[in-house]
Amino acid sequence: MGMNVTEVTDGIFRLSANAEPNSLLFEGIWPIPNGVSMNSYIVKGEKVAIVDGVCGWDGVPETLFEQFDQMGIKAEDIDYVIVNHHEPDHSGWLEDFKKIRDDFQIITSVKGEPLLEAFYEITNDVRTVKTGDSLDLGDGRVLAFADIPNVHWPETMATFDTKSGTLMPCDAFGSFGAISDAPYDDQLSREEIDFFEHEAVRYYSNIVAAFCLPVKKAIKAVEELPVKIIAPGHGIVWRKDPWKIVNDYKRYASYDKNPAKEEVTVLWGSMYGMTEKAVKPLVEAIEAEGVKVHVHRLPESPLGDVLTSAWTSTGIVMGMPTYEYKMFPPMFAALDELAKKKVKNRKAFRFGSYGWSGGAQKELDELMAKHKTGWDFLETVEFKGAPGKEDIELIRQRGTELAREVKRMVAEAPAIA
Ligand code: FEO
Repeated sequence: MGMNVTEVTDGIFRLSANAEPNSLLFEGIWPIPNGVSMNSYIVKGEKVAIVDGVCGWDGVPETLFEQFDQMGIKAEDIDYVIVNHHEPDHSGWLEDFKKIRDDFQIITSVKGEPLLEAFYEITNDVRTVKTGDSLDLGDGRVLAFADIPNVHWPETMATFDTKSGTLMPCDAFGSFGAISDAPYDDQLSREEIDFFEHEAVRYYSNIVAAFCLPVKKAIKAVEELPVKIIAPGHGIVWRKDPWKIVNDYKRYASYDKNPAKEEVTVLWGSMYGMTEKAVKPLVEAIEAEGVKVHVHRLPESPLGDVLTSAWTSTGIVMGMPTYEYKMFPPMFAALDELAKKKVKNRKAFRFGSYGWSGGAQKELDELMAKHKTGWDFLETVEFKGAPGKEDIELIRQRGTELAREVKRMVAEAPAIA
């Protein structure tokens, strides 16, 4: 857990703690196969502010306090604690901090204030701020605040250092992925940046996707600022090319309505291998069109992986049998979550086996209608028991048709960033 403090820019320092790969489920739900970093920032003028913190898990606040030591900072030196966002992965350390000090001043949003008491019984001197407010740390260092509500909690705000152009937006523009020695984009290779881009998609789809409209509004607000560095609460700090992560987020936020990438996610589940017989021919047909396919078997694939694939896929295929006159239950759970996370307007296709009367299709139609997913389905192929040669051929054809439609939709989509 031990990490070193690094200097973001003159007078701003990054402190961080990692949750190691697969050490926990983020938010108690989402696997983190590559871990996640939680970043905190010390901003020094004549006065000292700490912007966000780390979670309160065993050993994590201690990591933060060790990093204070590395900087030669004592808890008493901190004049302001700025809480952009109250989810405990950033605010949990306050529980320990208040044991060290009980007289610190907190800067947070109006909606954030009551959460301090609710989570940590903190009723200190709290100053609430809103868009347009600022805090003068002295030595020419003025912090400006901007509300970015619902990215992804209602109380969220961003802190902007007007002296250096450093934006500290907490969850916005964050990514999963633990970080060891090199937390800056200017220290990373193309492959490493690509890795963090994938981790940003995982983060966006798992944590933020339900709030695409607020993300778009936040991006608009950020575009009006003279941003030179983006220092988020998770992931790498963008100081060589801060607009890369903004533009990435702009694209991710557009995938709720616009076509995403030239990719198809195939979700399948099978009780005794009947539905499974059609999976390989279907995947081959899609790949033959040059379209990338992500395949997830349910319930084995974690929902976090399914969401990550589905978010960037313009096409979704569901292979599932009827189970007790309804949908195969893990498929229901996955699709229900995709819909709640606003995986909308996809080109879709379903195939699967049944034994007696069927019923999966009826429940699928009801689920799609309930969530208003806007998925445009090709005609379903259902078969009694095992698929015959004609069924397999039909499913192949649907795969080809779906892939071609996906390519057309992506080609005709408006350029986002
Ligand atoms: Fe990283 Fe919403 O907390």
